[in-house]
Amino acid sequence: MKSAVAFSLLLALVPSSTEAIKLPHFGRIDANDNDLVQRVLKQEYTHIVVGGGNAGLAVASRLSEEPTFSVLVLEAGTWQPLTPGVVVPGLAGTTFNTDIDWAFYTQPQEHAKGRRVYWPRGKILGGSSALNFMAWTRGHKSDYDSWDALGAKGWNWNSLLPYFKKSEKFSTPSSNNQNAQPVYDASVHGTSGPVQISFSPYISDQFTGFYEGIQKMGVSVANDLNDGKMDGVAWSQSTIGKGGLLNERRVTSQTAYIDPIWLTRSNLCVLPGMQATRVLFDTTNKDNVKATGVEFTFANITTGHTFSASATREVILSAGSIQTPQLLELSGIGDASFLESKGINSVVDLPGVGENLADHPAIVVVEKLKEGSKTLDAIGANPILAGAALAEWALGKGILTQELSTLAYLDSQTLLNASDHSRALTMMNRLKSSSNIPTAQVEQQIAQVKAGSPIMEFLAINVYFGANAAGEPNVPYLSLAACAQKSFSRGSIHIASNDPKAYPNIDPQYLQADIDKFYLMRAAQFLRELAKTDALSQYIDSEAEPGPEVQSEQQLEDWIENVVRTEYHPIGTAKMGARNDQGVVDENLIVHGTSNLRVVDLSVMPMHVSTHPQSTAYAIAEKAADLMRQKA
Ligand SMILES: Cc1cc2nc3c(=O)[nH]c(=O)nc-3n(C[C@H](O)[C@H](O)[C@H](O)COP(=O)(O)OP(=O)(O)OC[C@H]3O[C@@H](n4cnc5c(N)ncnc54)[C@H](O)[C@@H]3O)c2cc1C
Ligand SMILES: *[C@@H]1O[C@H](CO)[C@@H](O)[C@H](O)[C@H]1NC(C)=O
Ligand SMILES: *[C@@H]1O[C@H](CO)[C@@H](O)[C@H](O)[C@H]1NC(C)=O
Repeated sequence: MKSAVAFSLLLALVPSSTEAIKLPHFGRIDANDNDLVQRVLKQEYTHIVVGGGNAGLAVASRLSEEPTFSVLVLEAGTWQPLTPGVVVPGLAGTTFNTDIDWAFYTQPQEHAKGRRVYWPRGKILGGSSALNFMAWTRGHKSDYDSWDALGAKGWNWNSLLPYFKKSEKFSTPSSNNQNAQPVYDASVHGTSGPVQISFSPYISDQFTGFYEGIQKMGVSVANDLNDGKMDGVAWSQSTIGKGGLLNERRVTSQTAYIDPIWLTRSNLCVLPGMQATRVLFDTTNKDNVKATGVEFTFANITTGHTFSASATREVILSAGSIQTPQLLELSGIGDASFLESKGINSVVDLPGVGENLADHPAIVVVEKLKEGSKTLDAIGANPILAGAALAEWALGKGILTQELSTLAYLDSQTLLNASDHSRALTMMNRLKSSSNIPTAQVEQQIAQVKAGSPIMEFLAINVYFGANAAGEPNVPYLSLAACAQKSFSRGSIHIASNDPKAYPNIDPQYLQADIDKFYLMRAAQFLRELAKTDALSQYIDSEAEPGPEVQSEQQLEDWIENVVRTEYHPIGTAKMGARNDQGVVDENLIVHGTSNLRVVDLSVMPMHVSTHPQSTAYAIAEKAADLMRQKA
């Protein structure tokens, strides 16, 4: 654990006395530290970024490269702790429902048995990049090209590719315990950006079974899941460091974009523990209001202490797909009559705020593995095994270096036979007259499907991850997730009240469109067939979920309504697009009706991409920083 000790020592260098810093470009604030807050407030900032998450810290770091800028970041969560669940890849998920998780729940889901679905989100510097499962993939080329076609001018695969590359530092695979040869395409990667990307040195036996079995099911090996084609199965690339202090450790937007610079970048001030409650405006010009600053409070205290800081150039909202629309509404930007019903004065009437919510709904087929199979279940239950695994990890080896190490993306034509595929297209076409999803989006999704953009993702998880709180004791599990990448359901996120500390109402409308359930049903059948392939079945004892009593299509669909959950990928609630088309921001990410309020996070995505979205969050932030530097 030598490097872990070194890592703690480095953290100890973090100044605890604020006296030492003339310009407090780094804050460690607790509720009693009004002094530091006051000193920070006396500074003049050119830019204030709200939300030090995945996109927020990336954009703040890039902005602060400009010496004439001074940047303040307000983040509700704390500086990243050395919590094992943050640092150790194999322990991702153990931070759920802890202090660093907002732990949202959706509204009861009308088409999913009235259940509330749990939505973890990072409440920590790094945001959800500190809580996620680290998979590093880009969507299909046609997914991004749809943004441009829908009115987000200049946002397409070709224009984003340089920014994807700018963010990443790709490491070619080194040896692994299975002697597997991950396939990749170095030409699509960047090698000098801040976000380290690597392949795990450890592959579980049952993951090899998945990788080989799915090829027997007609799925080819992908060229590279970051090449814009994403056609098949791959050993996963992940946000995990190689070498140095970050060897086999999770890489977040804090470790990548902030840790290397905070000691020297005196024009960047990062304030954890601060929750923004409202954007402040100069409304002299009613048709084009100007953001002048941000009001905020201690995130952990319900009363007292309201501060404000002013921004001379721009205010940037990076609070994520859930809280960016919440903050816009709290600030008077949203549907005017709705806001007035909540006691908020309208500043800009913008009915698109909080609408257009899209997610990737998921189900998990759970297999009990044969006795003696090595999984994380035993490590979670047995402190001696856990200690041994951690000791191995500290040496850069073993099961805890691994996260989602194999992923597969299937287009509709590969998942379904020809007659089912044409049936699916008929169902999609019928949605053109639906009131839930805009016709233009249905048309784009059909075009994407025809272009081979994946409809379904399958991934293997090395631990019980089913519908119950836990599996049976002393049983090793393999969880096989099917995640729908092109949902045709759209939902919304709106404030529940004008209290900034109250959680907003989240309603993803899971399974509102029948086609979503149809694809998930076929995906569950596919996973059952996969489990029967020789390559994978050799490890399996029996199916735990849905279980043998669930057989007919109707029973499977009923089960899906009982278990459908999130792949944790909400987007779209402040979408880029024309104001008369429910757009919230323009193609420069500036909120309509304002001159200088930008949104930089996944809420600006007009439509979803068929993949894990963290690389897209970094690319959006990189492009946004360029837009702001060009303007200045
Ligand atoms: C459990 C989980 C697993 C995932 N797995 C993967 C994966 O394997 N690969 C992948 O690519 N993606 C994954 N994702 C998705 C991905 O991590 C997120 O989509 C992405 O990080 C979102 O980035 P963001 O910048 O939009 O928001 P976030 O990173 O969530 O940042 C928002 C930040 O704003 C802060 N904030 C909110 N409101 C306020 C306020 N009022 N004042 C101050 N601060 C505020 C929050 O605390 C947070 O730090 C996963 C997500 C989760 C939750
Ligand atoms: C908020 O309170 C929790 C629980 O006491 C604590 O763990 C966390 O560090 C606090 N967050 C901040 C930002 O101070
Ligand atoms: C297509 O697949 C479905 C589901 O597996 C099956 O019921 C149907 O018979 C198949 N059709 C053809 C023509 O093979």
